[in-house]
Amino acid sequence: MNAGLVGVGKFVPSHIVTNEDLEKRMDTSDEWIRTMTGIEERRIAADDMDTSHMAYEAAQNAIKDAGVNPEEIGLILVATVTPDRPFPTVSTMLQEQLGTKNAAAMDISAACAGFMYGLVTAKQFVESGSYDYVLVVGVEKLSKITDWEDRNTAVLFGDGAGAAVVGKVSEGRGILSFELGADGTGGKHLYQDEYLVMNGREVFKFAVRQMGESALNVVEKAGLTTDDIDYLIPHQANIRIMEASRERLGLPVEKMSKTIHKYGNTSAASIPISLVDDLAEGKIKEGDVIVFVGFGAGLTWGALCIRWGK
Ligand code: COA
Repeated sequence: MNAGLVGVGKFVPSHIVTNEDLEKRMDTSDEWIRTMTGIEERRIAADDMDTSHMAYEAAQNAIKDAGVNPEEIGLILVATVTPDRPFPTVSTMLQEQLGTKNAAAMDISAACAGFMYGLVTAKQFVESGSYDYVLVVGVEKLSKITDWEDRNTAVLFGDGAGAAVVGKVSEGRGILSFELGADGTGGKHLYQDEYLVMNGREVFKFAVRQMGESALNVVEKAGLTTDDIDYLIPHQANIRIMEASRERLGLPVEKMSKTIHKYGNTSAASIPISLVDDLAEGKIKEGDVIVFVGFGAGLTWGALCIRWGK
């Protein structure tokens, strides 16, 4: 029996901040940001919209899409590094707000790879028969830990949430294989003091190597080859990193998800947000082989190979 994604949802704040808006605030240019990162605009949450609010909206959409009763959800996993506060967790806040009265709840802290960690954890609980449905949310309000005086980081990130309900799917469908990993020696390259601090060059090098490698590993573990991949959803951190993994897999441009121009890097939310947009645009069909691959602070990484459908 396989676990798969039986419903998905997203939420992004309505306020758009363009590269031109940032030009007015710091020494940067639309041209630099576009060429170096692929980002054109990002969504920034208002002061009174915290992480749990975005998580709730995305989760509601995913539960509705899955057509499940909230009481059937046995576990809520929220992947975030920007919770409203250290505790109570965002997941327990959702547990109350969603009416998921039978759900256990915990947050997962694995930065931009958090949604991958969440999906893989959910898979274990569903396939073991422990829970019928697990809700996984990837959500960040990175704007609250961004140093708006630091052009090296401020131009890169955005706020948003994506969610999936993981449940049983039919034979041959769902999560076929996965890889998770961590390398704490790279922790110094991306961390939070008061604000987010990053050594962009080092993270870039790591990401290019790891994204391609992990994507190849999960395809192989699923008993498939790169020719079988119908669609790649890489973590939307930088278009040049994404392109490097696409090229490593030998995929044409139209087989890679690209939403970074609209949302920037939304960390744990980037893959599920992209998934929702791609489904809405008809880019993913029943039976397609999809690869998710993400990386982030820690350093952490994760990839999944999924045959889409219930
Ligand atoms: N606007 C204009 N110039 C900028 C700038 C900005 N927003 N940010 C940096 N620069 C300048 C630098 O000051 C530097 O100028 P200098 O040569 O005069 O010193 C120049 O651009 C090159 O900077 P550098 O940081 O060496 O460029 P880079 O090729 O490493 O690209 C990133 C910078 C951030 C785009 C790139 O390193 C990156 O994307 N790294 C991965 C980040 C990431 O994905 N993080 C999230 C992980 S989940």
